[in-house]
Amino acid sequence: MSGDGRLRFAVLGSFRVERDGQPVDLGPRLQRALLAILVVEAGHVVPVDRLIDLLWREEPPAAAIASVQAYVSQLRRVLEPGRPARAPARVLTTQEPGYVLRIADDQVDALRFQALARRAHNDLAGGQPMAAAAGLEDALALWRGDPLAEFAGEPWALPTMARLAEAHDLAAEDRIGAGLALGGHAEAAAELEAMVQARPLRERRWGQLIVATYRCGRQADALRAYQRCRTVLASELGLEPGPELRQLEAAVLAQDPSLDWHPAAAAAVEPPDAAPGAAGPQPAESRPAEEPPALFLVGRGPELAHLRGRLGHAAAGHGGAAVLVGEPGAGKTTLAEAAVVLATAAGVTAAWGRCLDAASTPAYWPWSQLLRALPDGPSVQAARQRLDGDVASDAEDSVRQFRAYQAVAAALGEVAARAPLLAVVDDLHAADDASLALLQLLAGDLHRMAALFLFTVRDTERSDPLDQALGELLRHPGAERLAVGAFEPADVAALVERLTAEPPRTGVVAALVDRTGGNPFYTTELVRLISSEHRRQPLTAGNVRARDVPSGIRDVLLRRVSRLPDDTQSLLMVAAVTGRELQPDLLEHVTGVDAEHLLLGLEPAIAAGLVTTAETGWGFRFRHPLIQESLYVSVGRVERARLHARVAAALEDISPGSTADVVQLAHHYLSAGPVGDPAKAVTYAREAGARAVRQGAWQDAARHLEQALAAISPAVPDADAIRCDVLVELGQARRSGGLIREAHRAFEQSISLADRIGDEDRMLAVAVALAAPQLWGPDEYGEIDPRLITLLER
Ligand SMILES: Nc1ncnc2c1ncn2[C@@H]1O[C@H](COP(=O)(O)OP(=O)(O)OP(=O)(O)O)[C@@H](O)[C@H]1O
Ligand SMILES: [Mg+2]
Repeated sequence: MSGDGRLRFAVLGSFRVERDGQPVDLGPRLQRALLAILVVEAGHVVPVDRLIDLLWREEPPAAAIASVQAYVSQLRRVLEPGRPARAPARVLTTQEPGYVLRIADDQVDALRFQALARRAHNDLAGGQPMAAAAGLEDALALWRGDPLAEFAGEPWALPTMARLAEAHDLAAEDRIGAGLALGGHAEAAAELEAMVQARPLRERRWGQLIVATYRCGRQADALRAYQRCRTVLASELGLEPGPELRQLEAAVLAQDPSLDWHPAAAAAVEPPDAAPGAAGPQPAESRPAEEPPALFLVGRGPELAHLRGRLGHAAAGHGGAAVLVGEPGAGKTTLAEAAVVLATAAGVTAAWGRCLDAASTPAYWPWSQLLRALPDGPSVQAARQRLDGDVASDAEDSVRQFRAYQAVAAALGEVAARAPLLAVVDDLHAADDASLALLQLLAGDLHRMAALFLFTVRDTERSDPLDQALGELLRHPGAERLAVGAFEPADVAALVERLTAEPPRTGVVAALVDRTGGNPFYTTELVRLISSEHRRQPLTAGNVRARDVPSGIRDVLLRRVSRLPDDTQSLLMVAAVTGRELQPDLLEHVTGVDAEHLLLGLEPAIAAGLVTTAETGWGFRFRHPLIQESLYVSVGRVERARLHARVAAALEDISPGSTADVVQLAHHYLSAGPVGDPAKAVTYAREAGARAVRQGAWQDAARHLEQALAAISPAVPDADAIRCDVLVELGQARRSGGLIREAHRAFEQSISLADRIGDEDRMLAVAVALAAPQLWGPDEYGEIDPRLITLLER
């Protein structure tokens, strides 16, 4: 636990928080109650839904989530006043599915009380009454009154109050026990009178009273105490006193010398008592040497066993590839994550590359991500530079791609030669075409490395380049396709139990399978939705089958979003347009909301498990691509274009000219269409094309340039001249990919256009482009255009 050591939380008596000894203003009652709940549960996440339940009971207001959020933000302000606006909260933190107070045990008076009392109890049982007495004095000094007194009627406070009251009773009795052991029977006898009145059913007090009065020479009072206890127990509970008290009575009657005070006999008066929490030191837990790593997933036993076997083979030098195929949300990424856990536990290096939207990421994105995750080494660095286009090269465009492939193959080979490797490329269906081409080139090398390559692919998103790359990949030894299918009912049941912390009721599993087909993501989101809409009820088949439950994963997700505060919803819409990763700087710029309020606005989404903190840096991401995708398509077309335009303008403002941004800028300006700035769309798309050319990613270059062409409208100044230039660039990109006929078409169009607008310079530019050296001879391309001959003859 971490936290601010100067903060002190007091629940013994009225609820109070102090910083540096000064009381902190905790605000209105519900806000205080919220904090008190988190203190009671310190170190544990309290789900937002539960907070709402506890705070408002039967009738939460419509804006309950927003109120919780406001209380949390106000509390953060008083708990961590010095925190910079952008720094994440450290004391009251957000963690799916709610909030958690991260403080040390010694910051809470009740926890300090319990620790001191427990230690004293053990001291007493261990024959150390002096130490016990001192500890109990410290402990009881912390007790300022009934715990959480102001929340006495609240159901959430009851268990804690009961637990603390029990601990207090025990401590008070232990203090008497220590006093008796130290010879203080007179004081003890006086105090015990009040104590038995206060808790007449606690036999231990009666026993202490018997011993104390006996030692004071009041044998008759001792016997009367026994009789009083007997009467109380009989009338209240219909019970006889327990064996210890009965033995004590017999000992008093017999004037047994064991009752007399002897310093050394102190422990005899105090039978070891198995009070809760009185556990002595525990033997250190022994762990089996080969403990399997803790896995977070449900089911998938056979798949994991298979992957474990494949990792073993890879480590032995028989590598290859497995393509995990399934519908969106089927659990492909989760399975790959589990493979990473297995690999790491087995000493296999694991690296992960994720394909984001190809339209907004630079060429070779997944491969360069993967290389960034690999341990450093000369070939790894060289490959990174090459993929980034940072290697000056006078090589033929078409050769550059091959060089990129060689560099990546060398890097992977180098890493796998040092230690076995698990390389994951997630969401291959979203890869850019150049990345797929690179995979196609690599396909034959993979089984020669001590490496297992995992690719996850949605079977709903096909494309020719993807099919080609996978076809080539699967042709080679050691490559296989693994279907990631729906959950069996038993898995659904286990998932429900995981999510609701109780076994599913009758019919729930069947109802869920009917709705979701056993898709793990769909099932998870549906259960979360229903649980938050029926907060106080268990999950029932009726609720799952209810007519108003949205059908389709997208609608379920949108309904989950619609339950969040309005500010949060609009923030998520903007974020969905910016992409899967939420970039706080960018969002700040686009929305005009400052960092602090931005974080605040995101809180409910984080608590709802729709957004998570990114693995690195100060950032957030949508927890699942489907969440971002659903939000994105839910924004109307016009609004979406408008948002893209705002995002584009904001990007220009905040990051002048890094290479990645050119692609992003192109993407946003292109998506903004006429609402944005078409001239800029064209400019950035061409720059993105030029960058892809430097990377040797001619496929991506061609795509950017085709988009640039499509974006040239009459609104763009010099539209025709620009179209001529872009067509030449497109012809060059296509030619370096060997698409001679398509290249020709672009050159042809450029000449015709230049001719029509009478632009001789541009006609010459085409001539120069045509004369450029090319690997594929001009035979296919045919004779020189007569218009060029005429031009050159002038
Ligand atoms: N084996 C599992 N155990 C528990 N939960 C799972 C499991 N598989 C999937 N889930 C749940 O479903 C969600 C979606 O799974 P995952 O992201 O792996 O799907 P996917 O197949 O990669 O989807 P996509 O094609 O959209 O990337 C997970 O975030 C998790 O909540
Ligand atoms: Mg996935």
